[in-house]
Amino acid sequence: VVTGSASGIGAATKQYLESRKYKVIGVDRHSADVIVDLASTQGREDLIAQVLRLAPSGIDAVVANAGVNLPDVLTLQVNFFGGVATLEGLRPLLRRQSPRAVLVASRVVLQPVVDDIVEACLAGDEELAVRLGDALPAELKARLYASSKLAAARWLRRVAGSDAWAAAGIPLNAVAPGSVDTPMIGHRNSDELARTLRERPMPLGGLAKPHEVAAVISWLLEPDNTKVTGQMIFVDGGGETLMRREDIWSGTVR
Ligand SMILES: NC(=O)c1ccc[n+]([C@@H]2O[C@H](COP(=O)([O-])OP(=O)(O)OC[C@H]3O[C@@H](n4cnc5c(N)ncnc54)[C@H](O)[C@@H]3O)[C@@H](O)[C@H]2O)c1
Repeated sequence: VVTGSASGIGAATKQYLESRKYKVIGVDRHSADVIVDLASTQGREDLIAQVLRLAPSGIDAVVANAGVNLPDVLTLQVNFFGGVATLEGLRPLLRRQSPRAVLVASRVVLQPVVDDIVEACLAGDEELAVRLGDALPAELKARLYASSKLAAARWLRRVAGSDAWAAAGIPLNAVAPGSVDTPMIGHRNSDELARTLRERPMPLGGLAKPHEVAAVISWLLEPDNTKVTGQMIFVDGGGETLMRREDIWSGTVR
């Protein structure tokens, strides 16, 4: 199951998996096998019911990819609450031989967030997260995107090693793309894109193509991935290494 399959990274992932002979159930607001709005509770419930109808014996893998990047609380509702509902809701259906799950996060987790909103997301309090998001001054609303993605990445770290995922035999990982050439950033003109790449570099080959992200997602879903879980792989051509440098493992584990 791939959400956000009608466009960009989701469409490329669906295509990539189909080229390897997997049967993919695409999910989106339009042009998909399952048409739902993941921003709504009803849409999230319909997702589970419709996937169950299409795959009564269960599914192999789920990719929570659908997302928006808007200075609006919709960004929290789709990216965090829709993403988590997709992964948690479809987890019981992951009952075939090599179940796998992937979340599409973003390198934007390195940008400033709104802490209260991240905490409200992690507490599962959608009403509070939306209220706090609506109350943000206009100049901070752009942080809703980073907040939604950081909350999702932290949620993944919290649950991946638990009984529900790792101990149940389900690797759960994330990819964190840098800038990817999809409609999500298609409104940016060439000057804006050049500025983005200057400020948030991607030295290995520049702007990513959707299929380059799809290839990493696809490997994480393969039966060959037997031990990698709880990881977020930056698919950003080395930008994250330039931004964070080498010291990302400080803090001793006793
Ligand atoms: N493009 C980038 O530069 C970039 C970078 C990092 C992360 N991402 C992430 O990658 C994922 C895919 O983005 P993309 O670049 O392919 O964008 P895109 O706009 O091309 O595709 C997103 C898809 O999600 C679907 N979607 C949005 N809201 C939905 C809803 N409420 N219910 C169901 N489906 C919904 C859209 O209809 C669309 O088909 C997103 O989670 C995005 O945040 C993108």
